[in-house]
Formats: sequence, structure tokens, C-alpha cells
Amino acid sequence: MKILLFADPGIDDSLAIIYALLHPDIELMGIVTGYGNVSVYDATRNAAFLLALAGRTDIPVMRGASQPLSGTHTIFYPEIHGPEGLGPIIPPDSFKADISPFELMFEIIETNMEDIVIVDVGRQTSLAFAYNLRPELMEQVKEVYLMGGAFMVPGNVTDVAEANFWGDPIAVNVVLNKAKKVYITPLNVTNRAIVTRDIATYIFNQTRGPYKYLIPAVTNYYAAFYDEVMPGIDGSPVHDAFTLYFLLNKDKTYTIRRDVRVAIVDGNRGQSVADLRMVYEEPKFEHYIVMDFDYNDFLADFIRVNVGEEG
Ligand code: BDR
Ligand code: CA
Repeated sequence: MKILLFADPGIDDSLAIIYALLHPDIELMGIVTGYGNVSVYDATRNAAFLLALAGRTDIPVMRGASQPLSGTHTIFYPEIHGPEGLGPIIPPDSFKADISPFELMFEIIETNMEDIVIVDVGRQTSLAFAYNLRPELMEQVKEVYLMGGAFMVPGNVTDVAEANFWGDPIAVNVVLNKAKKVYITPLNVTNRAIVTRDIATYIFNQTRGPYKYLIPAVTNYYAAFYDEVMPGIDGSPVHDAFTLYFLLNKDKTYTIRRDVRVAIVDGNRGQSVADLRMVYEEPKFEHYIVMDFDYNDFLADFIRVNVGEEG
């Protein structure tokens, strides 16, 4: 499966990048970065650094949006994701990221249109720009996967809003209105995709891969934040990596088709809305929301991928 990944690494974004690189069935075609958990500059550097750790500098990194379409002031989250976005890890000053122009993404899509999908696990601004700049091309992309939203469950940035959809609700609506087919992995499922400290330690002990030290370091950093907001889980949800798991394991999840929209007005900003009545309006768009999954299967897959074939 060829994937163009949009991300704002960010701890769980890093785990998604690692998952994509290590998964034998994923071909990571490029990473488009954006502001979100950290600034677009830190996010870009982190993405390039993660690729370099595995010797995969052949995969292009493209710098995307630096702020939301609304132009509102952007809040970053160093207390959650670390001062530069990789928990306790700071890429050395000597590391120079090789950045490709944003437009390269259109070339990648055009050349691989038959079998490429887009996965966006950050704020959706860069992706909305892409739909604006090259609508005739982007509207042909067969599937788009978004990590975001919270459907009739609490948000994580406000009582009703999840961070990615809250960050740029205008952009999410652009994507929802323009994309051919959208799959959404909301907090309803990603909050339950928990990797515990013990699992991170287990992966550390089992693998000889390039992310041996990084995986427990970032997971435990993230877990310290979740100790405060979700006491007792003893780990952290891996929202973004779960989105990639879903993409390859749809048949093991419970997914519903409903038209989705995101509130833009203050007060409700970022709230994701779908018609969840027993008898609901016939959907007009191809929007699919993931509502349930098999945790044990997810965890086994996450461990298998991160431990790697050579162990
Ligand atoms: C989402 O917001 C970000 O902070 C995480 O990286 C994830 O993509 C979870 O709400
Ligand atoms: Ca993210």
C-alpha cells in the first residue's frame, strides 16, 4: 500500500512514521509536515530526523502549512510532546534536514494515482491547500484517512473538540467536502489504542531495529502527560499509529457511513458532528467513521511491526 503521510511529529506522529517505515505492507512515498503539536519547522526537522535514523533519506519530506486557514493564533504543545516534539529527544545541531518543495507531493500523487492513498494525522491545513491548489488532481485520490474528531464522546482539547479538528476546522470541512472517500479515526477508538509502559519496554527488549531506544523514550514521555489526563492507563493512546493499523485492518473494525461536518464557531469550534440517530438521513458523501475495533488484535499488530522481522 503506497501512502503519502501528512503529519506534525509530535510523539504519536513519530510512532506512526516508524510504523509506516517498519510495516512490510506499507510503502511510505513521502511526508508532508505541518504545524500542530509543534511548529512546522520542528515538525519538518523531526520527520527528516526519524527517516535519517533508519537510513531512509530517500523518502522526501515536504514542508506544509505554518498556521491554520482561519489565521488564528496557533498553540503548540511542548508540555505534551516535548520541547521540540520528540519527547526527551532533541535532534543534534549538526543534523541538517533535506527538505523538498511542497509541490513535489502533486508529482508523487500523479505518478502513483492508481494505488496511492493519503493519511493525514495532523491539522488538515496542508491537505486543504492541496485540494485548493490542484482540485482536478486531488479529487481523483481514491482514499483519504484522517485522524480526528470525537463523536458523542469528550474531546481532548476542549470538552467537545479533538485537537486535529479543533486546530483548523475550516480545513477539515474543505477536505470532507472535496475528497472522494474519507475514513475517520476519531477519539472514540484512538483513545482506546493504548500502548502501556510495559509494552514499550517489551518492544525495547525484543528489537534490534533503529528505533529501539526512541520507542520507549517517547512513549514514556507521552505516558507522563496521560497520567494526568487519563489516570490509570499506565501508557498512552497512539492515535496516529492506530490510523495506519486501521487502514490495513478495516475488516477487523466496526465502521459506519455518515456525513460528517465540523463546527467552526467559537464555543463549539472543532466539534465533529454526524447523524447518529437510529434512523438517520441518507449520506451524500463517502465518509466513514471508525467506531470500534479489536484491541488485542491492534496490540499484537503494533508489537509485531515494531519488533520487526529480524527481532
Ligand atoms: C491528535 O492530536 C495530536 O496532538 C496527536 O498527534 C494526534 O494526531 C490526537 O487528538
Ligand atoms: Ca498528530
